[in-house]
Amino acid sequence: MVEDIKKKIQKLRQQISFHAHRYYDLDDPLIADNEYDQLFQELLNLEKLHPELATPDSPTQRVGGKPLAEFNTVRHTRPMLSLENAFNQTELLDFEERLKRFLKTEVHLTYMAEPKLDGLAVELVYENGLLVTGSTRGDGRTGEEITRNLKTIRSIPLRLDAPENIQLPGILEVRGEAYLTLAGFKALNEQRLAAAETIFANPRNAAAGSLRQLDSRITAQRPLDFFAYGVSDAGQIPCSSQEELLDYLKKCGFSINPLTKFCPDIFTVIEHFSHLQEVRPALPYDIDGMVVKVNSLELQQRLGNKARSPRWAIAAKFAATQATTVLQKVEFQVGRTGAITPVAILEPVNIGGVVVSRATLHNEGEIKRKGLQIGDHVLVQRAGDVIPEIVKPVLEQRNGSETIIRVPEICPVCQHRLILPEDEAITRCPNSHCPAQRLRLLVHYTSKAGMDIEGLGKKAMEQLFKEKLVQDIPDIYGLQVADLVVLEGWADKSARNAVAAIEASRETTLAKLTRGLGIRYVGEEIAGLLDEHYGGSLQKLMGASEEELLDIEGIGPQTAQSIIEYFHDPDVKEMLSRLMGFGMTVLSTPKSLVESPFAGWIFLFTGSLAAMSRDEAKVRVKERGGKVASQVSKKVTHVVAGEKPGSKLKKARELGLTILSEKNFADLLAGKDGPPKKQQLSIF
Ligand code: IVH
Repeated sequence: MVEDIKKKIQKLRQQISFHAHRYYDLDDPLIADNEYDQLFQELLNLEKLHPELATPDSPTQRVGGKPLAEFNTVRHTRPMLSLENAFNQTELLDFEERLKRFLKTEVHLTYMAEPKLDGLAVELVYENGLLVTGSTRGDGRTGEEITRNLKTIRSIPLRLDAPENIQLPGILEVRGEAYLTLAGFKALNEQRLAAAETIFANPRNAAAGSLRQLDSRITAQRPLDFFAYGVSDAGQIPCSSQEELLDYLKKCGFSINPLTKFCPDIFTVIEHFSHLQEVRPALPYDIDGMVVKVNSLELQQRLGNKARSPRWAIAAKFAATQATTVLQKVEFQVGRTGAITPVAILEPVNIGGVVVSRATLHNEGEIKRKGLQIGDHVLVQRAGDVIPEIVKPVLEQRNGSETIIRVPEICPVCQHRLILPEDEAITRCPNSHCPAQRLRLLVHYTSKAGMDIEGLGKKAMEQLFKEKLVQDIPDIYGLQVADLVVLEGWADKSARNAVAAIEASRETTLAKLTRGLGIRYVGEEIAGLLDEHYGGSLQKLMGASEEELLDIEGIGPQTAQSIIEYFHDPDVKEMLSRLMGFGMTVLSTPKSLVESPFAGWIFLFTGSLAAMSRDEAKVRVKERGGKVASQVSKKVTHVVAGEKPGSKLKKARELGLTILSEKNFADLLAGKDGPPKKQQLSIF
């Protein structure tokens, strides 16, 4: 009898763990919420009746007894950037060329080359030497607060034990990679298999899954490890190079990857890459390439960052993992902006631990370029997080039964005739009322990449759309618990949770909202730039001119035009005003802490500068809040004349503009000059 109950309990635990995983980790539940609740309740009852059978690893023992709580979010004081990739030797040499061009002066560059661990980037904040917060990278600006879980990793010091001679800043933000060893990954999967739980596809997923546990006792059982590779602000510590910085972190008690190498030139970097490629199979953890960093922190500072990645570092990636399989058919999907995207449906194939059954084909031009046919054997590749893609058909394996891929002429969803705009490679459905587009937009809006409204995942949005409860974004804010509970698959609890999540999303930031609206070309990075530039004001963004948008570093003409078109669309205006009517509040962001000594100034450069490239000079002006013009006009407040200035200088003189020598400009950058004077400062 007791044996039967024990078996029953075990079975329930397995079922609950399985469904929790489908729901929380994979966002792909197989049963309805209420069925899950029933299983959970049944287990709770049995454990109450038989306390001797309750174990600490039961799903009922998670924080609060239910796996529903969320992590807090943490705003990183400085964004956690990603890296550009180099896929071969030439691209590494190009990287050095770019650095030299930017810095202009003939500097000799030395580098640090570090293995690129395939784990999870985290930030650890130490206050007076004590670990106070640990977080994930998240979207780069805000991450999830997982301090308790990170504290379970033994190689993360809880207190920095720096020797006497090491000076610690009040706040030190250390960055690095949390990872699982391959042995740990294997053991974990074996354990999960034995417990009839789904296995993790690769060590990276396993590390992420382990760190995102709500119960840190579970994290503690996972063999996680940590390597530090940087700090958020190198200005905080007494180091002049990445090499010294790593040494400093080591002295503070962190592990630094032993395969990190100082490289006196780019050729040594390339050699080290080959070395890592050779030793990779024997390493106890997974690496997917090598990170190359300019060693001098002063040069790193000068090189600065682009929107997503620093100029001073690059990821040299190992060749992608490839496999061959059969192209079964091509589906044509209608995207959020009407783009018709062909998607290859493949015979499932395991590539480096991940089963791939779909691959993107980007656009029809790609089908032609690659000469693909249905039934072809194809070489498929998967590189890191990138969506799998078809490299080429294996022509040797054709047997004549293959068929041509036909691109539809009418929208597969709304039957509207498709168009192929002249200057674009992508066929579109021009009907902005096309149900597929509307649904895609709604799914995007509530998704993690948009407003991140928990409980309104893809399936829920599809259902709400089908039931005509939500047809447009503002409709989401009119949803009531009573609307949801009556729908299939919804329970009182899930309905309440969803409505609470909608409620919480009413207060948002401009970055999140603009990302969620699905404006063409406006992703996470552009949305962040807009938020920063407009101090979080939607009103200001809506009134922006194209010229103004183009002045924002990182926004090009295509994006600027798309933003303008979007906010001028009467349907959009009406939608936004309905949205505001539902009490949506966009929080203004405090102006960046960086001072803007050049605010209101417009610079024009003519002639070449000796100490830096034109590009660097422009960056220096913009980061101080100034603007750069390309034509002489009365608006220009400072003309910087370098060697061999052109006709612009003459024109500038005629207009009586302020003219600076390179030395004057350098002084201004160094803050050695007062306010601008409307008179000639230089010897010209
Ligand atoms: S430096 C500002 N160093 O690679 C530079 N990143 O694509 C960005 N990574 O999210 C980070 N090993 O998760 C750096 N030695 C290393 C790294 C490393 C792995 C990961 C990290 C980051 C991603 C960037």
